[in-house]
Amino acid sequence: MLDVRDLTKSFALPDGGAVQVVRVPAFSLGSGEERALRGASGCGKTTFLNLVSGILAADSGRILIDGVDMAGLAEPARDRLRAAKLGYIFQTFNLLQGFTVLENVVLGMSFSPAGADRRRARELLERVGLGHRLGHFPRQLSTGQQQRVAVARALANRPSMVLADEPTGNLDRRNAAESLALIREACRENAAALLLVSHDEEVLRQFGRVEDFASLNVASSEAAP
Ligand SMILES: Nc1ncnc2c1ncn2[C@@H]1O[C@H](COP(=O)(O)OP(=O)(O)OP(=O)(O)O)[C@@H](O)[C@H]1O
Ligand SMILES: [Mg+2]
Repeated sequence: MLDVRDLTKSFALPDGGAVQVVRVPAFSLGSGEERALRGASGCGKTTFLNLVSGILAADSGRILIDGVDMAGLAEPARDRLRAAKLGYIFQTFNLLQGFTVLENVVLGMSFSPAGADRRRARELLERVGLGHRLGHFPRQLSTGQQQRVAVARALANRPSMVLADEPTGNLDRRNAAESLALIREACRENAAALLLVSHDEEVLRQFGRVEDFASLNVASSEAAP
């Protein structure tokens, strides 16, 4: 499903230099496989997921998604590949502010080859406890409610790989447990791979095996203060 090789990403510093944030020699994830990664704030988890999803362009390396190299594609093709295969639960939600809760989920689906399915969008929003908020705009929701919209949107297309960036970071224990259960169930239903990053031990405890992101990302150990 996912095979990452020699991936690097640096960011420019205000003084003209650059700091390498990601250097991942090898990472892979099989179809239907679940992986949970733990990592301290600032160690490059979101940057890594942004690279894997093609939102950020890598400096070097390969990101093979079902054999297609995301890193080698131009931006429109990366966008299409992401829409067709990936469900990304962003740490900062990235909801479209001018659209309602229901429209946010439906719009995400309309970019996929399968097209929009309003009934599924509604069902997912009901599952995350937002059935009574379909016509609200993101700014009318609490942070945790926005996070649950982001969960529904990411799962709507029945993606073959779900990237979850701290998906329960703004939720109370009950909503966190329900969101996590929905994410895992949707992945199982679709035999989708799940890559979750978190520093919430309560969440991580539910995974049989949790890896340290720092051990995959050589840059994070070198950049540590
Ligand atoms: N666009 C950018 N320009 C410059 N530096 C950046 C940029 N994006 C991220 N960084 C830097 O890269 C490092 C890793 O950031 P990243 O957001 O990937 O961390 P993280 O592990 O997701 O942290 P958190 O757990 O707090 O979400 C940080 O030091 C951050 O300052
Ligand atoms: Mg992050």
